[in-house]
Amino acid sequence: TKILRANANAKGLERAPSVSGIGGVVEKPDYSEAKIVVAMVGLPARGKSYLSNKVMRYLRWLEYNVEVFNVGQLRRSKARRELEEHGEKADHSAQFFSDENPDAKASREKLAEESLENLITWLKKKGGNVGIMDATNSTVSRRNKIRERIQKEPGLQLLFLESFCDDPSLIAANVALKASSGDPDYKGMSQEEAVADFRKRIAAYEKVYQTITEPDISFCRIQNVGQQVSINRIDSYMQSRIAFYLMNLHLKPRSIYLSRHGESMYNVEGKIGGDAELSPRGMQYARALPDMVKKHIGGGGVEVWTSTLTRTIQTASFLPFEKKTWKALDELDAGVCDGMTYEEIEEKYPEDYEARDEDKFNYRYRGGESYRDVVVRLEPVIMELERQENILIIGHQAIIRCLYAYFMGLSQEELPYIKVPLHTLIKISPRAYGCLEERFALPIAAVDTHRSKPSKDGKNPTYGLSNLPTGDVPVHDTSARKYYDQTGGADAPAEAAADTPTDAADAAKA
Ligand code: F6P
Repeated sequence: TKILRANANAKGLERAPSVSGIGGVVEKPDYSEAKIVVAMVGLPARGKSYLSNKVMRYLRWLEYNVEVFNVGQLRRSKARRELEEHGEKADHSAQFFSDENPDAKASREKLAEESLENLITWLKKKGGNVGIMDATNSTVSRRNKIRERIQKEPGLQLLFLESFCDDPSLIAANVALKASSGDPDYKGMSQEEAVADFRKRIAAYEKVYQTITEPDISFCRIQNVGQQVSINRIDSYMQSRIAFYLMNLHLKPRSIYLSRHGESMYNVEGKIGGDAELSPRGMQYARALPDMVKKHIGGGGVEVWTSTLTRTIQTASFLPFEKKTWKALDELDAGVCDGMTYEEIEEKYPEDYEARDEDKFNYRYRGGESYRDVVVRLEPVIMELERQENILIIGHQAIIRCLYAYFMGLSQEELPYIKVPLHTLIKISPRAYGCLEERFALPIAAVDTHRSKPSKDGKNPTYGLSNLPTGDVPVHDTSARKYYDQTGGADAPAEAAADTPTDAADAAKA
């Protein structure tokens, strides 16, 4: 019963074309030819890992297969293995990072080469699209080696991404964070010892550091994230996409607030889509929202974005803040099913109903949209959100799911089942390598519009909390970092979470 509409045109980097009037599961566009190595450049504590993670989450949301290969993680995994197997404890104090220490220099070069090889193998053999090499790559000679290696691989593009930072307060905050985060390099050391050693390590790199000036390479150089971006030889779609994204980032502390509109008359009747007004309980939520928002934004301001539909505009109507309406924020278009209940859809279009349950992200309503279509139309919203400070979005169930998945790094399978209850404010605050989420539910009853995936095996893949108690409930923190496990070691992910916190976002906060 699965209806497949193969998408023959979606070669390389194009998107699925609209199949107007025909419902069904639209296959993922073919990105198999898009392959790029993004090699980070910069001194320690300059936010390289922060940027690597941001780029990874953004491109994954757009369906590319992306991994970060962190050389520090590889070094520590190997050191741990040495200790376990031969009882030898590697010295990874500042001395190891000195250019005047030939043995250490050679082993650092070898580690960088090995990590690059892991990355290339993953791109070539494991269907990778974007491999991010998270290392300092801070000399011309190291960058030349990377270029020579990539040139041997037809079909692989290369982009250097330098994070340059000369803001002493940002650097100091990053250093302090590294020293206090239980980083494996500094296990058993006091905070003062760790800071002193990390400062020495940075000084060792500074002695040989060469900022990117090579005229014949593709690069993007970011100065104090948000201050200045220079680009050179950006000559492919993928490179320009990454560069454009990076141009829009900033590090100012802020939060994104997400809320669905108050309960609508269609919600009460169990109907989807439409342009209904709020129910009396929905109006109650609209009236209560200003106080709740003021409470959670503290002294700062917020700009409110709504869709063009009556229910979001009504919900925002009592908020004393600047407002904008976005067509792109309108609810997922249910096409011929607009205005129907789920039961009616099941009766009238049983094949479609089943196909949607099978693959909800890729299912496109007859004459309407799929979740994938919505992700594509939300990209400009994401870009603008990255540029802005505090923003409150009053949206719809499918729309909030897509935005939430971008910030929280959720997969396509999880996305269409994220629980976004009515009358609940979600606060998302960017952190080091992900976001911290808090939910605040108002004690105003509303219907539950969530439909779980029918369970074949007794497992329920619904993502998120179901019925929250009212009040303030911190629920989800994705701010730990995740790397591709280059060693296959069982304990690699645990280490990854505590790895080098070149945490630009938290640094800015501090
Ligand atoms: O039921 C409310 C609603 O916003 C509908 O308008 C929309 O079609 C639906 O949610 C999206 O949720 P789902 O993808 O789970 O059907």
